[in-house]
Amino acid sequence: MTLREVAYGAPDYDATVALRDAVLRRPLGLVFTPEQLAAEADEIHLAGFADDGAVRACVVLVPKPDGVMKLRQMAVHPDHQRQGLGARLVAFAEQVARARGAHRMVLNARDAALGFYAGLGYAVEGEGFVEVTIPHHTMVKDLE
Ligand SMILES: CC(C)(COP(=O)(O)OP(=O)(O)OC[C@H]1O[C@@H](n2cnc3c(N)ncnc32)[C@H](O)[C@@H]1OP(=O)(O)O)[C@@H](O)C(=O)NCCC(=O)NCCS
Repeated sequence: MTLREVAYGAPDYDATVALRDAVLRRPLGLVFTPEQLAAEADEIHLAGFADDGAVRACVVLVPKPDGVMKLRQMAVHPDHQRQGLGARLVAFAEQVARARGAHRMVLNARDAALGFYAGLGYAVEGEGFVEVTIPHHTMVKDLE
């Protein structure tokens, strides 16, 4: 898997939206609205590609004040989960965040994925809450 940043609006970006739609939205009976996708124009889009160019995994980073980077929309293709791709993409996202001056990553994890992020050094912060109809917790990690 080759990791790189993709430009908002480019064909590779559209492929990441298709993957996120399939993995993160359709199973919940939800769809992305045009407003939600328009709001991603200023965000950082990262993806991992197979040799044939297919998107295997993707994630979005959002710069926040005070050296904080928010990680959102993490998705790995269903045929390629539990093969280490998600862990590689988060490590890449942390590198990109550090390169842009961030010293802390924050994310809202689905409760089903808490163990994934915990294994990568993320810690739960605060009480749980519901987002996109399912339980979540905020998790944070100080970047070295
Ligand atoms: C959650 C997700 C991003 C993880 O990516 P992945 O490529 O499947 O995970 P990896 O293979 O890199 O796993 C890394 C480690 O985390 C563990 N892990 C993976 N998913 C896990 C989960 N849901 N719960 C607990 N541990 C998990 C793996 O067993 C592995 O452990 P190891 O290092 O001890 O072997 C991916 O499975 C996915 O897209 N799931 C559906 C959508 C989703 O839940 N996205 C997150 C929204 S917050």
